[in-house]
Amino acid sequence: MYVSDDGKSVYCLGERKHCFDFSSEGYLSLNPRGSGDTKESVKSRKAFLEKNYFQTAARKIADMVGLYVKDCNFLVDAGCGEGYYTNLLSDLSEYTFGVDLSKYACGYAAKKARADKKQNLLYATSSVFDLPLMSGRCDCIVNIFAPCAEEEFCRVLDRGGVLVVAGAGKNHLLGLKEVIYENPYVNTERADLPKNMLLIEKVNLSYDICLRDNADIIDLFSMTPYYWRTSEKDKTKLDKLEKLNTAVEFEISIYKKQT
Ligand SMILES: C[S@@+](CC[C@H](N)C(=O)[O-])C[C@H]1O[C@@H](n2cnc3c(N)ncnc32)[C@H](O)[C@@H]1O
Repeated sequence: MYVSDDGKSVYCLGERKHCFDFSSEGYLSLNPRGSGDTKESVKSRKAFLEKNYFQTAARKIADMVGLYVKDCNFLVDAGCGEGYYTNLLSDLSEYTFGVDLSKYACGYAAKKARADKKQNLLYATSSVFDLPLMSGRCDCIVNIFAPCAEEEFCRVLDRGGVLVVAGAGKNHLLGLKEVIYENPYVNTERADLPKNMLLIEKVNLSYDICLRDNADIIDLFSMTPYYWRTSEKDKTKLDKLEKLNTAVEFEISIYKKQT
């Protein structure tokens, strides 16, 4: 790939010279028809994450990347959302690439990278199941609360490359569910975790947060899948709630590509 003289597009090196444009926010638009998260849920997630309720978890993920990936040249955040974690992780790698299906998420992420003058950080709209990357070039992939595409991750990871998967532990956001549902359930183990990679370490990070602002509570709820599964009647239970205590529980697993 090479960038056009005016810096607004990139061209593939192949004979047909496919051309992809940068959006006005600065991300590369590789999948203009993809959907991903909606404008509303992206906006809520951005507002919630900016309050740093998940900062402890973000730091733990960064620590684990630092521990297991030495001299990181190329890091990919697969399903990066608005770049909350990507931004932090880009300090650990020479180059960082954030990929998400949602143009709204990539838009916010790229704007922030531009504002922070992060020259080593690029975002693109693309699917984690079809990454716009050559095989064997990545040192590390992080995959946080997003679909895990083991086969595609193994294709783009270098030999010995590291995959960090973070998702919801059993009691993640149980306090929120207790307010909304009569019989709140705990989360079960996700089904898409890697099966053929070598599991090196699994960490369970659990802590409590206290939200004292109704806007934060609504933002938290709106960025979760529960928002789409909850009746209008149950949603109203949050309307006037001014305080919420809830557990935050991240399951963080580190895998290595075996050959
Ligand atoms: C729950 S959000 C997590 C975002 C971010 N990693 C975080 O934790 O803040 C899941 C993200 O995955 C994206 N996503 C869903 N399916 C995807 C796919 N097939 N390829 C790339 N991104 C996808 C959504 O657009 C959304 O931004």
